[in-house]
Amino acid sequence: MAKQKADDLTMIQDIILNAKEAAQKEIDGNAEPEFTQKISWPVDCKVGPGLEGAIACETEIGYVNGSMGYLIYRGYDIFDLCAYSSFEEVSYLLLFGELPSKEELKEFKESLNEYRHLLDIKRLLMSFPLENMNPMAALRLGINFMRHKQTYRDQAEVVSKAESIATDEDSIAMETPPRGERKSIYEFRKKQYRRPKNVQAGLVGSEGVGSCIRLIAGLPTIVAAIARIRKGHLPIEPDTSLTLAGNFLYMLTGEKPTPLAERIMDICLILHADHGMNASTFAAMVVASTLSDVYSSVEAGVAALNGPLHGGANEQVLLMLNQIGSEANVEPWFAQMMKKKRKIMGFGHRVYKAYDPRARILGPLAKMISATTPELRDFFKIAQTLEKVVNKSFGKDKNIFPNVDYYSGLVYKALNIDHEIFTPIFAVSRVSGWCARVLEYLEKNRIFRPRAIYNGEFNKKYTPINKRK
Ligand code: CMC
Repeated sequence: MAKQKADDLTMIQDIILNAKEAAQKEIDGNAEPEFTQKISWPVDCKVGPGLEGAIACETEIGYVNGSMGYLIYRGYDIFDLCAYSSFEEVSYLLLFGELPSKEELKEFKESLNEYRHLLDIKRLLMSFPLENMNPMAALRLGINFMRHKQTYRDQAEVVSKAESIATDEDSIAMETPPRGERKSIYEFRKKQYRRPKNVQAGLVGSEGVGSCIRLIAGLPTIVAAIARIRKGHLPIEPDTSLTLAGNFLYMLTGEKPTPLAERIMDICLILHADHGMNASTFAAMVVASTLSDVYSSVEAGVAALNGPLHGGANEQVLLMLNQIGSEANVEPWFAQMMKKKRKIMGFGHRVYKAYDPRARILGPLAKMISATTPELRDFFKIAQTLEKVVNKSFGKDKNIFPNVDYYSGLVYKALNIDHEIFTPIFAVSRVSGWCARVLEYLEKNRIFRPRAIYNGEFNKKYTPINKRK
């Protein structure tokens, strides 16, 4: 048993280190001095549609080198972080700029553990028809509840932990007085909550960091609760003896994960934690730049991540593989897609013109964990064949390769997770990057306010409504 565990973990380590070696061999291109040198504002840059090439800010948090296909967080290569660290360590690194000492990591984990418990929020979520909602919309709802609680209640010294369970007395009418039954009776107590003084300070200062840690700890609990409520199951209380990744799997499935599953989820979370000025990060930063609060910023990030051109692609990939159905159908299916000028989900990237380093790890991981299940093995074969077909058709010429979303869905499926939860998992990880970048930007905040080129008409004469045709 112990030997099997050690073998599994060694196999994963080998996958990551082999991927690193392959990336280093194939790396070819410029070091992109235009995106790494010190600048002074205003800066000259060539901007394409969709803000391609635009420089929005300076950062020390992370860097994606698209031509060389590498990704770093705070100077550390993503391959090394996957091989040697944990999601907790990476979140600390992103937020605070340095790898934690043993003591710092212990304290950070203790805070995360404490903030995992969101009993009252789970209860609120249970009162909504989540089964009819997009899980990402439900996640925004959960974050909104967190915002409500943190902004007005939990920060006040007067609120004890025991009281926070009865947090929604403002929105739910008082139930009939208890009649003595021992079960199934809710009593919503009336209590005056003092609005904390530092609410006005919003994100700025240490409270901003505190809210970020709450969000990093809270999102797994909310996502797991959403996944279970949608299936008619009760949410599960967090197990603080487990890592963030392990506990997340536990809260999703109700079973303690194997060390292999826990490690794989941990790696997935590390890989998705930050990725430059992607659409959701930018959305979060735009909201923060108005001096809104970090919860609203993260909600904006979730909203942007949901789209199929961004984080929503991971779910679409699995649906696509399902639709293709067999290796034999890959070529005819692909020909149809090309005829209809459709994009192939899980391929292409605005920044990467080389193989996405995250897919270099997720591909072999997907292969490894799908090997023992016939259905998954077939999915993996279809994915591999499609990758070859895309590469031969236009991938090589246009530098279009699988991105992070191509193989991640297969990994999650092998972990027994429903496809509708794939994109929320992306958010469980990316919340670290959103928070780190929002906090960094707020240190020298300037509201985001680009311009558009106006191509409309001028000087039109207003016609009253009853004279219009
Ligand atoms: N399938 C087919 N052709 C593609 C694809 C694709 N997946 N991606 C790009 N192309 C072609 C595109 O048709 C265009 O060709 P041409 O120059 O002949 O018109 C060229 O490559 C450039 O594409 P683009 O759409 O201008 O590139 P973009 O930077 O605006 O879009 C993208 C990037 C990721 C939105 C796009 O590649 C795409 O839609 N991919 C599929 C969705 C997907 O997998 N999204 C996940 C992205 S990675 C994770 C994340 O950030 O969330």
